[in-house]
Amino acid sequence: MSPHSIVHSPQSRKYFCPGRVCLIGEHLDYNGGFVMPAAISLGIHASVTSRSDNKIVCTSAQFFNTVEIDLSKPIEHEAAAGWGNYVKGVVKYLKDAKLKIPALSIEFSADLPSGAGLSSSAALEVLLAYILQKEAGIENVDRIKTALLCKEVENDFVGVKCGIMDQFSVATGKKEHAVILNCDTLEHEFVPVNTGDYRFIIINSNKRRELAGSKFNERKSECETALKVIQKHKAIKSLGEATREDVLTFVEDKTAQKRALHVFEENLRVQEAGKSLKQGDLIEFGLLMNASHQSLKINYEVTGVELDTIAENAITIDGCIGARMTGAGFGGCAIALVKKDKMDAFKEKLNHLYTAAIGYPLSFYEFDVSDGVGEAQ
Ligand code: GLA
Repeated sequence: MSPHSIVHSPQSRKYFCPGRVCLIGEHLDYNGGFVMPAAISLGIHASVTSRSDNKIVCTSAQFFNTVEIDLSKPIEHEAAAGWGNYVKGVVKYLKDAKLKIPALSIEFSADLPSGAGLSSSAALEVLLAYILQKEAGIENVDRIKTALLCKEVENDFVGVKCGIMDQFSVATGKKEHAVILNCDTLEHEFVPVNTGDYRFIIINSNKRRELAGSKFNERKSECETALKVIQKHKAIKSLGEATREDVLTFVEDKTAQKRALHVFEENLRVQEAGKSLKQGDLIEFGLLMNASHQSLKINYEVTGVELDTIAENAITIDGCIGARMTGAGFGGCAIALVKKDKMDAFKEKLNHLYTAAIGYPLSFYEFDVSDGVGEAQ
């Protein structure tokens, strides 16, 4: 059997959800800090038709298995169901929230690589949640509530204790803008991504990142350990509120201390990066990206040899003024800021260095900053 090819029937309705790239502010969302992601032009497309039975039937051009949900029966998590659990979780949580779920056939097709740190799972969740609400007749879908519901699905149904960054950015994204999001209050500001003679490029290490199986939940619990210790001395709600002094004075466990130092320093970097982007100071922005990568390598320990090889070689190449891993880490993608007229030579050189060190090549994605989930042509 081959993956399903998409045949659009004339009555089908089209939707699109972007992926996201985090420009800076990594592993801060579940610590109540600031993050700066942007929705990207790579994403997931859906073609939707109505059904006459009481079912949701989803197929994908990327995955072999069909996900079928009988809406008259209880919806249960299934071990090893892969992408099916994202679909089931979203349908179940919207049903529990009293949405009258319409019977639909949905064909998904992605130009966003999955498991690469570009939020393919958040894009799938948010896309499906948006489709179900639109098709149920909701005119103005509440994007923030949709993001929050999808985060609950990921945390409690799929079992990954992620923060709100991914779902928020793909649900609310704004063309040509990054968002600076306070993950504690959800206050946010859209900032134009004006990079002049430079442009951001995403670099896929082609080392697959399995979020649920990775050390993601372990990092989260190490941060909780640091927070609990500090809370014995100080009334703070999240680790993002702790000062450097709090961390150094109260957190004795060396591992927890390193994690908490990353959180403190990265949080400052996001705020500095916001100022640099607004002022068009890309050199400073690039330096902050480099410092972010080093902190993720040394204090948070989520980079790995592939991402280090990319980020550390990238900045030695003419025209590159900043590079860092993006997303959860442990493989997946990096992002670099590169002079436009040096881009081709940059890609060639980096790919050469990476292949020599790691043994297989990189993939590169040039992208536009996109709007969030919505109807498509
Ligand atoms: C994953 C999670 C996000 C965030 C990043 C790291 O993408 O889904 O919530 O924690 O990792 O910044």
